[in-house]
Amino acid sequence: MSATNIAIDLQQINVTFKRNNENLVALDNVSLQVEKGSIYGIIGYSGAGKSTLVRIINLLQRPDTGSVSILGQDLLSLHDKELRGVRKKVGMIFQHFNLLRSRTVLNNVEYPLLSQKMSRSKRHAKALELLKLVGLDEYAKAYPDELSGGQKQRVAIARALANNPDVLISDEATSALDPQTTEDILQLLKHLNEKLGLTIVLITHEMQVIKSICQNVAVMEKGRIIEKGSVSEVFTAPKQALTQKFVESAANVTEMRQQISDDHLIENLQSNERLLYLRFSSEVTSEAVISSLAIKYGISASILFANVQKVAQLSLGYMLIVLTASDEHFATILDYLTTVGVVVTDFSTGEEQIYVS
Ligand SMILES: Nc1ncnc2c1ncn2[C@@H]1O[C@H](COP(=O)(O)OP(=O)(O)OP(=O)(O)O)[C@@H](O)[C@H]1O
Ligand SMILES: [Mg+2]
Repeated sequence: MSATNIAIDLQQINVTFKRNNENLVALDNVSLQVEKGSIYGIIGYSGAGKSTLVRIINLLQRPDTGSVSILGQDLLSLHDKELRGVRKKVGMIFQHFNLLRSRTVLNNVEYPLLSQKMSRSKRHAKALELLKLVGLDEYAKAYPDELSGGQKQRVAIARALANNPDVLISDEATSALDPQTTEDILQLLKHLNEKLGLTIVLITHEMQVIKSICQNVAVMEKGRIIEKGSVSEVFTAPKQALTQKFVESAANVTEMRQQISDDHLIENLQSNERLLYLRFSSEVTSEAVISSLAIKYGISASILFANVQKVAQLSLGYMLIVLTASDEHFATILDYLTTVGVVVTDFSTGEEQIYVS
């Protein structure tokens, strides 16, 4: 990434809040670079520091230490007036749409333009153009209470675009929406990203959201970024336990893990049976694994769970099987599986034993 390609450059950011005379570290040495025109996802549980991190981007929150560079400008060195200028280049949308109930949809969208020297008709035209962009021009005269959640979020997006921002920050903007409406809003964001060259930072606690439109992802835990990279890298080979948990949640593996204990699968295994969890990417398929076991080793495995998720042109497979084999035979099979790129977790002993080539 060359410097001119970077929209957001946060370096070694620290933020500590004081609560009841105690220090609470909200951001712990966080560095993040977001390429211009990309969609960057930030995922973490509640309290991880995600909102604090994005508030740093427009300096709504000042860091105790660290540097904040947005569109090539060092924000910490700017005066108030210059800072207001840069802030206009960063739009924000939230879970609660924060629309003004007493104003029409059109008036809500033109609201950020009121402080500018712009004729009323120009302002109206601009707001209408933005409403068209989000597919809501027919609702210009309606009031927020007459709209669905998804439509309200579209209005909020149009309003966030009023100042022609280069960066759009979405802080849990789809968390209050159903899955279909979430996907519609995400596709709208992707469309805006492509059409306007908008850089998007998307905060979420759902890996489905990341999977759907992000190119890069950072995982946050307790104020730190514990893992980051391209979405395909992170989904294929998650390094941290929390990352793996998020990746698996997007393929319903979390439910599968719960089923293992609910159904007492481990306790019910025969002495020569093993409960194995297999993970693999594009080159391998569930069918190939199962048929090779049968053909090469004369072993039949019963499949308890199988799923595939598609991420950034990759297919990632997850399978839970019960295999009947002697220890010696198992060693050979394990060798074969890891050689073809399958990551094998053996649950049989009650502890998770992971084998990878
Ligand atoms: N203004 C503040 N004063 C004191 N503590 C704060 C303040 N803002 C955030 N915190 C604390 O900092 C930590 C990180 O909060 P933050 O809002 O960034 O988390 P988050 O990842 O966005 O969580 P959520 O998913 O619930 O929105 C939390 O422990 C929170 O209580
Ligand atoms: Mg938050």
